[in-house]
Amino acid sequence: MKILTCGAYIPNKVLTNLDLEKIVDTSDKWIKERTGIEERRIEEEKSTASMALEALENALSKVDNPKNILENTLGIIVATSTPDYLFPSTACLVQGKLIEKYNLKNPPQVCFDILAACSGFIYAIYNAYNLLKHSEKKYFIVIGSEKYSKIINWKDRTTCILFGDAAGCTILEKGDQDNFLSFDIGSDGRYKNLLYVPCVDDQDKYLKMKGNEVFKIAIRSLSSSILKVLKKANKKPEDISYVIPHQANIRILKLVAERTKIPLEKFFINIERLGNTSAASIPVAMNEAIEKNLIKRDDLILLTAFGGGFTWGSILLKF
Ligand code: UT7
Repeated sequence: MKILTCGAYIPNKVLTNLDLEKIVDTSDKWIKERTGIEERRIEEEKSTASMALEALENALSKVDNPKNILENTLGIIVATSTPDYLFPSTACLVQGKLIEKYNLKNPPQVCFDILAACSGFIYAIYNAYNLLKHSEKKYFIVIGSEKYSKIINWKDRTTCILFGDAAGCTILEKGDQDNFLSFDIGSDGRYKNLLYVPCVDDQDKYLKMKGNEVFKIAIRSLSSSILKVLKKANKKPEDISYVIPHQANIRILKLVAERTKIPLEKFFINIERLGNTSAASIPVAMNEAIEKNLIKRDDLILLTAFGGGFTWGSILLKF
């Protein structure tokens, strides 16, 4: 099994730190120093499913005969905490569009969303990998698509400066060789009050976070998860070509780099331009690293994420 191709959708509208200075009591200096973020993107028209479809179309534009791939695809998982509907799932909405557009006779069948907040993409790959392993089909589509701009309280300076919208996609391909070397997936449901989005009637529907407490647990969880996947695969930090991390805070990544003894230069970072795009951040970053020729076939790459739940996970693979 390997990653066949990647794609991304990045909204056009840029929201800079200077724009945010006009709506909350914050400063470009504070945001840059405390998070590494300079600007983020906001989607004004497309839904989460439409962004997911755009990212998939971008991935399909890089392969020969996309219709043949779609006819031989087991399913679609969309990792998202910001779906358009509770149901149908975002994945079913994407599949419906694909059937129409490509006139599919054998469309992807196993279509569902995964809600694991910022770790959603890692959870989705883990599920897709295991489902595809036991199937006759050859491909699986995994998408992270997020529109956090709709669950952000734009009056709360402690959260509104962090997040942005985007979607990223990968297509897994089953073959003779398995490039996925090890997985580490975890969760701990005891920390609800530190990071959550209510969907009960008597509460507002915005994201709430005790940032500094999440910060400390994120560093511990990411570091230990990275060391676990390396150990499981009998690999060392120096074997890694690139870490593609969830982009939550540059200071988190610096401290994780120190703890794991993986040089920070090996962490692919685009947080300054996109902020935290939750489940979309890893596939978007991976797509960008590939487009910039930083990752080549057979390079060892490590994906790692931490988020609400709490959830976390890492994957070590040969690209
Ligand atoms: O994506 C998945 C999970 N999420 C994360 O991993 C995020 C983890 N947390 C973080 O990245 C950081 O905790 C934040 C960036 C959210 C906050 O940074 P911090 O260094 O932990 O700041 P803090 O919450 O400890 O606040 C420090 C000060 C406070 O003022 P006082 O009480 O010291 O006077 C805040 O009120 O900074 C103030 N502050 C701000 N000042 C200017 C908080 N937000 C802002 C702001 N602009 N936007």
